[in-house]
Order: sequence, then structure tokens, then C-alpha cells
Amino acid sequence: MPLDLETARAAVARYPSPRSALLTLLWQAQEADGWVTPQTVETVAELLGLTASDVESVLSFYSMYRRTPPATRRLQVCRSLACAMKGAEEILEHVRAETGVGPGETAPDGSFSVEVVECLAACDHAPSCLWNERMEGPLDKQGALARLRGQGGDPA
Ligand code: FES
Repeated sequence: MPLDLETARAAVARYPSPRSALLTLLWQAQEADGWVTPQTVETVAELLGLTASDVESVLSFYSMYRRTPPATRRLQVCRSLACAMKGAEEILEHVRAETGVGPGETAPDGSFSVEVVECLAACDHAPSCLWNERMEGPLDKQGALARLRGQGGDPA
């Protein structure tokens, strides 16, 4: 379902300047479509009186916006300090070695993707991750691979 224009306009009206609603509209669109589509970029730019390039520049800065359709299974690994010290990079390297899919990539069949994120505020469970948006940790190499291969119990 594409961005709901009535909801989007209501969001814009809450801000003193239309362009201040940019992140909110992109998030609404991603919630509706699962990712930020090229059509969304055009629609949001038009709503806010911006150019598509303005919107693209913001999108390229924030890693929480997806630019491609989401995979069926999504692993987002934190690699901020606590998680890095507890082996997040080694897990990512292991996943790449075993599957050929590295951070920021999706498996060729679209079955899973691997992303890196900044601190999830779950440092006490480092290395932490989001597994299909659900917080988990501590993550280990075997657990990461099992989940990506659909053997780790997909969330309901
Ligand atoms: S550093 Fe990874 S959750 Fe905080």
C-alpha cells in the first residue's frame, strides 16, 4: 500500500516548515510499502516542495531506510563499540564466507538480507541484533547462519 496522502498531509501540518516532515513521511512510506520506492521519493518531494535529489540525499544518509524490497528474513547486526568488542565483525565475516552475502546485501533469491546498524541500546546482550525487527542477543556465528537459512525459528 503506498503512502497515504491524507495521513502524510496531516503529518506535514504538524511541523512549522513542511521540509521538517521529511523523515516522518519517509518512515510512513516505508511502514506502508516495506521500503522507500522511487515513486515515494517523487511523491514526498512534491508534497514538501523539495526536489527528488533533496529527498535522495537524506535517504542516503540514514541507514534505517530501505531502498530495496525487504528480504523474507532480515538480520541487522549492531557493530557499535560493545558489540564490536564481543565479535560482531567476526559474525558478519563468517556469514559472508558461508553465504556470500555481506553487510548491506540481499541473497540473490531474496530469501535473506544482512545489514549493520548502530547501537540498539542492548549492549548488555552484545553482540546484539534485530532479527526481523525483534531484538535478540547475544548472537553467535552458528545462530546467525541458522536464522538466515531458515533454521533458527522465524518470528511469527
Ligand atoms: S553497542 Fe551494540 S547494542 Fe549497544
